[in-house]
Amino acid sequence: MGSLIDMSIIFRGMLRPTLFALSRRDPEIAHELIMRQLALIGSVPPALRILQALYGAHVPARPREVFGLRFRHPVGLAGGFDKNGRALSALAALGFGFIEAGGVTRWPQPGQPRPRIVRFAADKALINRMGLPNDGAEAIAGRLAHLPHPPIPIGWQIAKSKVTPLEEAPEDCCATLRALYPFGDYFSVNVSSPNTPGLRQLQAREPLTDLLQALVNEARTLARETPPKPIVVKIAPDLTWEEMDSILDVCLSVGVSGIIAVNTTITREGLHTATTEAGGLSGRPLGPRAREVVSYLVRQLNGRLPVIGVGGIATPDDARRMLDAGASLIQIYTSFIYEGPGIIARLNRAIGT
Ligand SMILES: Cc1cc2nc3c(=O)[nH]c(=O)nc-3n(C[C@H](O)[C@H](O)[C@H](O)COP(=O)(O)O)c2cc1C
Repeated sequence: MGSLIDMSIIFRGMLRPTLFALSRRDPEIAHELIMRQLALIGSVPPALRILQALYGAHVPARPREVFGLRFRHPVGLAGGFDKNGRALSALAALGFGFIEAGGVTRWPQPGQPRPRIVRFAADKALINRMGLPNDGAEAIAGRLAHLPHPPIPIGWQIAKSKVTPLEEAPEDCCATLRALYPFGDYFSVNVSSPNTPGLRQLQAREPLTDLLQALVNEARTLARETPPKPIVVKIAPDLTWEEMDSILDVCLSVGVSGIIAVNTTITREGLHTATTEAGGLSGRPLGPRAREVVSYLVRQLNGRLPVIGVGGIATPDDARRMLDAGASLIQIYTSFIYEGPGIIARLNRAIGT
């Protein structure tokens, strides 16, 4: 406990201000520096054990089982932080209950021109227009083959490649699923990133049915005699209730295992700083809408599928309210950037067993 508090003070008092100052023009520089350090720590077992002792060991257990997987506690890292899966062991040692790696596309892609992340520190928010930069499914799978699986559930997120036309999304995403299948415990399908032109159109009934049916079938084929690994779908907050109902119908009819709600928003609601920056908004301002969407989905689903709640979770109260809204698990991204790894234990302490 003592060392956790000390490390939190070091992160928030020294490390974060230094990193933020170094990366004022391009916040991605701070992300790259941290990722490089975490990847390095992950390759040195004694260093990994120190990280585990400083952080992971202080996170209380809140065990639960969701879509057939066992979670030590419900607080996970949201998609997009470790896009290439380079730092999974170190991120697990920080104490996350699970990690969603990716989004990965079939073909390598550079994403949008930089800078493509903007910080709004006063709002504890970010706007990003990353455009899913990643090394591509084959390269990532090739690397993972030589790494141990971290001791927590790992989800791999799959997205359509930018160069692939929308109507070829099913085959494009199935190729990624085939490459990553041995390395994931579940797979999420990203049809909600606002930064790949047309991607959100895959949330419409017909293309969504084709895409999810193809992935569910592919998982059954890959599983052979064992139960197929869960496929879940991640949705946008900027949908009408009718659009959400249609997504739920599709998910229930094709045999998807769960829903992740929500991705970043294209609205600027709740952001107190005026801006014309393009991209998806995350962090504090997204919290109320994320909770509203999760409540709605949980009510409509009535226990038929689990919902993973994500968006604006920054305090123990936020975590509790998202779980009270009916989320089976929660994920964080922006608050991890602003608060550092101590947030995992803080959120967990407020969650009942
Ligand atoms: C820089 C950045 C990159 C992201 N990349 C992805 C991504 O690749 N795939 C995805 O589904 N969501 C991505 N997200 C969205 C997060 O996973 C999450 O849904 C969103 O940020 C809301 O959670 P938060 O308020 O805790 O950040 C990204 C968010 C940020 C800030």
